[in-house]
Amino acid sequence: MGFLSERSRYAQNAIEMEDSTAEALVEKGMKIIHLNRGDPTYYIKTPKYEIDAYKKALDDNKVYYSRAQGIIELTNAIVKRYKVLYNLKFNEDKVIVTQGVSEALSMLNSALINKNDKAVLFSPYYPLYITQLKLNGGYAILERYDESNKWNIHIDDLKKSLKFIKNDGKINKVKYMLITNPNNPTGTVMDRSVLEEIVDIANEYNIMLVSDEIYDEIIFNNAKFTSISKIAKGIPHIILNGVSKNYNATGFRIGYVIIPEDDKKSLALRSKFYSYSMVRLSSNTPAEYSAAEAIGNISAHKREIQKFVKLISDRVNFTYKILTENKYINIVRPNSAYYLFPKIYLKELGFKNDTMFVDKLLKEEGIQIVWGSAFGAPSHVRIVALAPKPILKYAVTKFNNFCKKYAK
Ligand SMILES: Cc1ncc(COP(=O)(O)O)c(C=O)c1O
Repeated sequence: MGFLSERSRYAQNAIEMEDSTAEALVEKGMKIIHLNRGDPTYYIKTPKYEIDAYKKALDDNKVYYSRAQGIIELTNAIVKRYKVLYNLKFNEDKVIVTQGVSEALSMLNSALINKNDKAVLFSPYYPLYITQLKLNGGYAILERYDESNKWNIHIDDLKKSLKFIKNDGKINKVKYMLITNPNNPTGTVMDRSVLEEIVDIANEYNIMLVSDEIYDEIIFNNAKFTSISKIAKGIPHIILNGVSKNYNATGFRIGYVIIPEDDKKSLALRSKFYSYSMVRLSSNTPAEYSAAEAIGNISAHKREIQKFVKLISDRVNFTYKILTENKYINIVRPNSAYYLFPKIYLKELGFKNDTMFVDKLLKEEGIQIVWGSAFGAPSHVRIVALAPKPILKYAVTKFNNFCKKYAK
């Protein structure tokens, strides 16, 4: 037995794997355009009213450990948000503030997963779902979002899998099923009818449903978003969300969990989330005060999010248009977030796999994107459309020309 734990080998973020290659190229003097980072703060300023609230918290000496569950101003602001946006009603004790959705995922898995327990995930997935599951000894039952159905969940496959697991007597090992809506990396907003089916399935098999809704206000092209809480009433479920994306404040490290129901499973899990929040003492207190203002000041946020979504949708649609000129890819139009996730016709281009494609694109053209295998979807790549349009135009045209260059 070595010094490090067995499970520590899973502590890696697949999205960042190509970063060291990019850094080495920069050191050699190459200019790299980063279309790999899902962090809007690189290109778009965090709203001033949020920054001011952070500064004020510091000036007011709000630098102590806060209430472990999250400051009451913030949990109340979250309650107000869901009332205003979705007409959902729950008490503030149903909310636990975390240091990003990332910490919520860590707590969720630590609270539920014993060795060899399972969770239903869908590929393409946000990579840290798998990381956190594996770090806790679990493994994924990988179902899929269906590219030929605008990346909605493949319901028939899911039903077959769960039926099989149930017949095998192992359904109790399946602790939760996690959907990402809106989705990173596909930019899909799930159809309400598909969500209804998912809720029915979770109910039939008595599986806790988790919905990561961290992009729920970055919606465009007339897409309609439905929060799982609207249709999962009476069924054990969890919402994950935070300020990273909708409030453009990734580095504040503020996320939250809402467990709105009072069934046995929800009660047990909520109580564990309280315990986990106490074990790590507190979230970042000044950031919590800023988040309380960010979320609670509905009119300031409304102004900011309108500008933000307009800017982002413009960049995503612009990038999409340039990509449609490329004969060597297939792309489903995204309607949310800031990602484009084309399938690359690798064979026609003479590449063995998506990692080689991404690596060559970086080394030869100085364009950094992320390979689809990081999201469990080989043959795809993720392009982030947050940069200003002239940069996007330059980089995505280079991407298209790179494909042309390798076409047989
Ligand atoms: C779907 C999804 N969930 C969670 C996160 C991480 O969120 P946080 O910054 O709140 O930890 C990301 C970040 O890109 C994401 O895309």
